[in-house]
Amino acid sequence: MPDNLKDFIKPGSEEELLVKQLDFSRLPRHVAVIMDGNGRWAKKRKLPRVAGHRAGTKSVREVVETCAHLGIEYLTLYAFSKENWKRPKKEVATLWRLLKEFLKREDKVLVKNKFRLKVIGQIEAIPAFARREVERVKELTKNNTRLTIVLALNYGGRDEIVDAVKNIVNDKDFDIDTLNEEKFSQYLYTNCVPDPDLLIRTSGELRVSNFLLWQIAYAEIWITQDFWPDFRKKHLFQALIDYQKRERRFGDIYPQGDQN
Ligand code: IPE
Ligand code: IPE
Ligand code: MG
Repeated sequence: MPDNLKDFIKPGSEEELLVKQLDFSRLPRHVAVIMDGNGRWAKKRKLPRVAGHRAGTKSVREVVETCAHLGIEYLTLYAFSKENWKRPKKEVATLWRLLKEFLKREDKVLVKNKFRLKVIGQIEAIPAFARREVERVKELTKNNTRLTIVLALNYGGRDEIVDAVKNIVNDKDFDIDTLNEEKFSQYLYTNCVPDPDLLIRTSGELRVSNFLLWQIAYAEIWITQDFWPDFRKKHLFQALIDYQKRERRFGDIYPQGDQN
């Protein structure tokens, strides 16, 4: 176990047993998470849905901290989909307020730990008070190089592809005959971010809900029945152990990097 994890993991705990099963030379570079189940978590406790969203912010802190300790480079969190505007106005307003409060509270932690905040999605359409906060923390952390936290806000995977096409068409210098997958990727919101290796979804739904449609072409998918507010370090360790047992063949008959 690397030294920096020793203070983070309680000796003799379930987490320690899990961490010991990890191969630190084969961790994913990029983990993406569909943080689902806040409403059901609250309902189970006879609480309003927003109590679930509030409780979910604790899991955000935990997954960020754990990724950083492991040395994972990119963590993408699906926080608000383009389709989430369909929800009751009050719930939507609370989600944006929680985001603002989260960033206000956590900005020092991001700076201190050299985390960088990046945003994907149509941010111009989110409430101004939340957008200002997002822009402020982005600016504050833009030169950091440790963990990049990519927040998906007002994000839709199909929208992202349509926006990329529009930008290519509007780029007068672009020679369409040279268009290929690599060039197309540069016009996505995730330009400069490698594709996710591991996609986690909480609360058991077996769907991708319009998340990173292009980028997850070869991501390994891990789903837990547990709700997002119950997500803790051990879940991430379990996902990583499972990920390391998979054979990533990318269409070949051999796992990547093993040709014999
Ligand atoms: C995820 O939890 C949070 C957002 C989508 C913003 P949900 O609010 O979708 O919770 P469930 O799926 O209704 O339980
Ligand atoms: C996906 O969860 C979006 C986020 C986690 C932000 P949803 O709860 O909105 O997805 P569906 O409606 O179950 O597909
Ligand atoms: Mg949901």
